[in-house]
Amino acid sequence: MQTVLDLMRTRQSCRNFDPRPVEKEKLETLVEAFRLSPSACNAQPWKLILATGETAAQVRECVQEGGRNKFTDACPAFAVLVEETAVLKPQVAEKFHSQTFAQMDIGIATAHYCLAATDLGLSTCILGWMNADKLKKALGIAPEKPVRLVLATGYAAAGDPIRTKVRKPVEEMAEFRD
Ligand SMILES: Cc1cc2nc3c(=O)[nH]c(=O)nc-3n(C[C@H](O)[C@H](O)[C@H](O)COP(=O)(O)O)c2cc1C
Repeated sequence: MQTVLDLMRTRQSCRNFDPRPVEKEKLETLVEAFRLSPSACNAQPWKLILATGETAAQVRECVQEGGRNKFTDACPAFAVLVEETAVLKPQVAEKFHSQTFAQMDIGIATAHYCLAATDLGLSTCILGWMNADKLKKALGIAPEKPVRLVLATGYAAAGDPIRTKVRKPVEEMAEFRD
């Protein structure tokens, strides 16, 4: 059994997908992992659209603008993450704008999704590069709702190696203080 740290070490941005479809039950498990994530005031300011088939083709077109993210040609499924209005507790809302924490909430839930995918033998790539207006039109998302991320989801192509992580050294990014 893999520990959470094992999953963190093996999760990586996949840019070499196998086109084989992702089982519906696995996509449902990923939605559950996302749903269990914490959020400020438990506001859960998100909506996910799980795109496969024809809908995935529409998403692909929107994340490939300007020739970027071409590797998604082989990716069979995408989770489109839409930010919803966060309803915060009154005292919190008094001090902070309703959407202050929403992007963080979505980021945390994204980590849940990606680690759960790794646990299921799937691979992901978080995509911030997209034509959001085109995507909203294609998927019938209200123009005022931000699409924050698209999570490319599928199986890595056979032989795709686990890369060494390129990260700042601990001394540069953390301080241990008594
Ligand atoms: C908010 C966000 C947006 C990203 N957007 C893209 C993207 O559009 N295309 C892409 O190939 N990778 C994208 N990435 C992946 C990062 O490049 C990647 O996470 C980083 O280089 C670390 O590599 P690793 O995920 O393999 O550990 C994004 C990651 C995050 C967190």
